[in-house]
Amino acid sequence: MRSLSNKAYSAYDIICIHAEMAWSTFRSRMSLAFQGARCGENFRSTGMIRIKLRAAGSIVIGDHVRLLAGWRSNRVGLNGPVILHTLGGGKIEIGDHSGASAVVISSRSSVKIGRYCNIGGNVRIYDHDFHSLDAETRRGPLDSGHCVTKPIIIGDDVFIGAESIILKGVNIGDGAIIGAGAVVTRNIPAGGIAVGNPAQLLKSQRKPNEIPSHSSSIKADEKLNQV
Ligand SMILES: CC(C)(COP(=O)(O)OP(=O)(O)OC[C@H]1O[C@@H](n2cnc3c(N)ncnc32)[C@H](O)[C@@H]1OP(=O)(O)O)[C@@H](O)C(=O)NCCC(=O)NCCS
Repeated sequence: MRSLSNKAYSAYDIICIHAEMAWSTFRSRMSLAFQGARCGENFRSTGMIRIKLRAAGSIVIGDHVRLLAGWRSNRVGLNGPVILHTLGGGKIEIGDHSGASAVVISSRSSVKIGRYCNIGGNVRIYDHDFHSLDAETRRGPLDSGHCVTKPIIIGDDVFIGAESIILKGVNIGDGAIIGAGAVVTRNIPAGGIAVGNPAQLLKSQRKPNEIPSHSSSIKADEKLNQV
């Protein structure tokens, strides 16, 4: 009896995921198109996706990208919506086959995410400090315009653990892994595994030939639960 009701709930769950995905994807695509962002083929989203693109900036989303904010599509405990936000001439680029869950990306300069990246739940990526480092300036109207701003580059096949924060000026090399809850303030080399606050390389560092390669045949449903 229990297994029957369990199966029925699972079927209901899957229907809900697909219905929610269809509606969220439609809304996200409308918002992206309306604000002049570019969105590739087979883009999918779930839950609330908030996009604010300033006229001088750009948002480019590659093919097969997944942005998830619905609790049914990623059950790690998502705290809020996906937010893609540019200020001034900020640019956000998300490469093909990459996915992120309840991520917040705020760019005044440039945030470039490569291909096949997995960005875990509630990750924050800020290429600026939001406020000036000077107390006098912070009191005045020019505060946010005077904050330090440096581009962020995240390579291909990077896996960023849940709740991590990636700060301005950081380059994360191909195949690197960032442990859950890390605060990344300095560059992480290709294949490196970094954890902690501030993020430091673990002793074990993958050799370049151990960095996994991918085929483009990953199915959409498999990818959905991998973010
Ligand atoms: C970073 C990570 C991949 C390392 O996994 P692993 O190679 O199996 O590492 P281990 O569990 O063997 O730990 C190795 C060492 O790193 C430490 N460590 C592991 N993850 C850590 C983290 N996130 N923060 C701080 N230290 C960490 C361990 O305490 C251990 O330290 P020790 O050698 O002094 O005992 C993993 O711990 C992690 O953080 N995964 C991310 C999970 C996640 O957020 N998924 C996305 C959900 S949406």
